[in-house]
Amino acid sequence: MNSKDIVYVNGAFVPRSEARVSVEDRGFVFGDGVYEVLRAVNGRLFASKFHDERLRRSLDGVRISLTGTDSAERLTEIGRHLLRENDLLKGEATLYIQVTRGAATRAHNFPPPDVSPTIYVSVVRFTPYAELAQTGASAISHPDLRWGRCDLKTLNLLPNVLASQAAKERGAFEAMLIREGVVTEGAKTNFFGVVDGSLRTHPCDSHILPGITRSVLRDLAHEASIDIDETPIRSDEIPRLSELFLTGTTTDVMPVVRLDDEPVGKGRPGELTRKLQRVLAESLASSD
Ligand code: PDD
Repeated sequence: MNSKDIVYVNGAFVPRSEARVSVEDRGFVFGDGVYEVLRAVNGRLFASKFHDERLRRSLDGVRISLTGTDSAERLTEIGRHLLRENDLLKGEATLYIQVTRGAATRAHNFPPPDVSPTIYVSVVRFTPYAELAQTGASAISHPDLRWGRCDLKTLNLLPNVLASQAAKERGAFEAMLIREGVVTEGAKTNFFGVVDGSLRTHPCDSHILPGITRSVLRDLAHEASIDIDETPIRSDEIPRLSELFLTGTTTDVMPVVRLDDEPVGKGRPGELTRKLQRVLAESLASSD
C-alpha cells in the first residue's frame, strides 16, 4: 500500500478502494483469465518484453482477444504510468496485470463476441526476501495436481494455492511439485538443482510455466560459461542434490537448504547458487 494507491480497471484510473468488477466476471466465476507479474526496480520494469510476449502467448492459449487499442505493451505502459502515479519510481515494486474473458451471464462456453475482456492493472511496493536469500529457505515436496497447460499463466491457481498452504503449514517457503516421479517446478517458482556436479532444470514444456527469471538466468549462466542440462530431476534423485535454488520474479535466486526436513547438500547455500544469485542481482540492478 502507498499514499495514493491508484489502480487501473477497464479504462479508468481509480483508487484501489473504489475499483469494481462485476460479480459475473468470468475471472471471478470460472478463473477464466490470465495474468502477469513484473518486477520494478527504481521505476524500471525488469525484462518487460519477455513478460509482454508471455502475456500474448497466455491470451492466445486461452483464446482471449484484447480489443481496440489494447495490447500487452499497452498494459505494461499503463503499469509504468501507475508506478509514476503511485510514487514508486524509487525502490522495489511489483506490477500485476490481469485479463479475464469479461462479465456475462454464467455459461461455461465463451460469452458473445461483444463482451470485452476485463482488464486490471495494479502496482504495489515490494520487499525482497533479503534475509532468506542469505540463509537459504526450506521446501517440501508435494504432488503436482495441475492441468496439462501449465505453460499458460492462467488464473486457475487452486493446486498452487493448496500446495503453497501445505508448505506454509510445515514452516516451508515453497512446495516442489512432483508429477509422475519428476520434480516439475515450485508452486510459484521454477527451480534449478545440482546433481552429480551438473546444473539441471526442467525443460520448458506444458508441465511448467516458462519463467522469465529462469530464462534470463539461463542466458546469464551461458554468458558465464555455466552449462545447464534440461533433463528433468526425478524425485528419486533428490537425495543426491548438492545444491537447489528457486527462481521467480518475486523470489530472484533463492537457495533451498532443506527439502522435506532433510538438508540439501551441506545444508547451506552452495557455490553455484551464490554465483548465480550475484549474477541475477547485477542484472536486476541494471534492468532496462
Ligand atoms: N509466479 N512457476 C510458477 C508456477 C509461477 O507461478 C511463477 C511465477 C514462476 C516463475 O516465473 P517468473 O520468473 O516469470 O516470475 C514459475 C508469480 C510471480 C506469481 O504467481 O506471483
